[in-house]
Amino acid sequence: MKIAFVSSEAVPYSKTGGLADVSGSLPKALEKAGFEVKLFIPKYFNVDEAKYGLKYRWDIGEMPIRVAGHVRSVHLHQAMLPDSNVEVNFIDCPYYFFRGQIYTNDWDEDERFILFCKAVIEALQRIDWSPDVIHCNDWQCGLLPLFLKDNYAWDKKLKTAATLFTIHNIGYQGRFGSNTSFKAEISGEHFYPGGPVEYHGDISFMKAGIMFSDLISTVSETYAKEILTPEYGAGLDVDLLSRKDDLYGIINGVDYSQWDPESDVFIPNNYSLENMSGKLLNKKHLLKNLSLPFDENVPLIGMVSRLVVQKGFDIFSEAAEELMNIKAQWAVLGNGEEKYENLFRSISEKYPDKFSVYIGFNDELSHLIEAGADMLLMPSHYEPCGLNQIYSLRYGTVPIVRKTGGLADTVQDWDEYKHAGKETGNGFSFDDYSSYALFKTVERAVGTFQNKGFWKKIQLNGMVKDYSWESSAIKYLLLYQLAINKRKQFNGRA
Ligand code: ADP
Ligand code: GLC
Repeated sequence: MKIAFVSSEAVPYSKTGGLADVSGSLPKALEKAGFEVKLFIPKYFNVDEAKYGLKYRWDIGEMPIRVAGHVRSVHLHQAMLPDSNVEVNFIDCPYYFFRGQIYTNDWDEDERFILFCKAVIEALQRIDWSPDVIHCNDWQCGLLPLFLKDNYAWDKKLKTAATLFTIHNIGYQGRFGSNTSFKAEISGEHFYPGGPVEYHGDISFMKAGIMFSDLISTVSETYAKEILTPEYGAGLDVDLLSRKDDLYGIINGVDYSQWDPESDVFIPNNYSLENMSGKLLNKKHLLKNLSLPFDENVPLIGMVSRLVVQKGFDIFSEAAEELMNIKAQWAVLGNGEEKYENLFRSISEKYPDKFSVYIGFNDELSHLIEAGADMLLMPSHYEPCGLNQIYSLRYGTVPIVRKTGGLADTVQDWDEYKHAGKETGNGFSFDDYSSYALFKTVERAVGTFQNKGFWKKIQLNGMVKDYSWESSAIKYLLLYQLAINKRKQFNGRA
């Protein structure tokens, strides 16, 4: 089976969040499971051509692509995804992608991803490779299924390609003014009030992905249910309900070649379930780097996150003063909204021995925090899957989470399970989205930390869990097969 995996970011080339982790690792797992996989991503300003061995496809040369009435010049580069036989196709259009950042608030953000979707289709035509499935991810790829079914319907070779649209975060929808329909050359047949790409008078790329793909998935079973409700559907719950029989939830896996304390190249002391001594050394190393004092009885709570309201920073701000009364230390890494960046800066100024923050994006520090912290806090308002808590489980870093989406599916509350007569809990969690519940749960976790026997058990329960991609890759296989059958039926009818 041939899979074209299309994404706006992928490790190791470009990353703002978990989508990049998934796009850099799921294709590898699919390829290991026997698929022929090609990855398609934009070639941003920061892709290191020499380091990753990019080769320019001279034979293809210029691909002229029309966006907003202008013909833009696009080129194709290829490389192999490290440690795999997955070919990466880089869509190169400096006019749109050399912007100093991966996503922008520029006036032509819509054009950047209209171009990307068209360019992927045109690249498929030119490399003469007809995938069985085109797997599109998030709003940046949302127009691709529509283009295939309409603007490029003349292409008989791509007619059999089924599309799967994976929602990684329904909160980011790619919503643009109605003028975008002209820029993208979307037919009036699709853009009208209540139509499949229209959202409150605007165009929604996410809605287009939902309405035009053969199947839809998201990144955990709980989130697949949540987005069908007004509370979590971010206005698209009704459209999702109209396709609920085609919506599936598959939990993300982890690339343990990158995220395993036994082999992690970023941490000074590797460790494993059998020999945990390195973890304490990593904690000392991390505290020293952060200029925080070491005290064996004081737990270190880590946070590695985009600093946005989705991640629960509004309830964190409300609880902040009280949280600082708990006997714990904090190591925070993140960037995002200015108000949260400022909040963390001011807490660290007020509590220099307790609280340290690094504002920015830093891969190495994210691994050091996973390895050196005792706990990791993710009080998300919603969380489609969440990867940091899954990494934490493997690092013996006990997650404290709000019970939502993928956090609910991967973290089992220690006390809850203990009361049920089972000592199988691997973390701490709370239901109610409030500063009080957050505070009480952190307090509970810090209290339990003092019982070394219990703590060891909680760590072990997390460390033995296997979230490698194999089992999720099989679920994708079944979904791809379903999508192919749907496409066949559709073509049979057409
Ligand atoms: P999301 O995709 O919503 O941001 P995930 O938990 O799925 O959340 O994935 C976040 C990924 O981004 C993780 O790999 C995490 O380590 C990484 N990350 C988030 N913020 C930073 C940061 N400031 N520096 C380095 N890595 C970060
Ligand atoms: C999104 C979600 C996150 C998920 C990631 C990868 O960014 O916010 O929960 O883990 O995508 O699927």
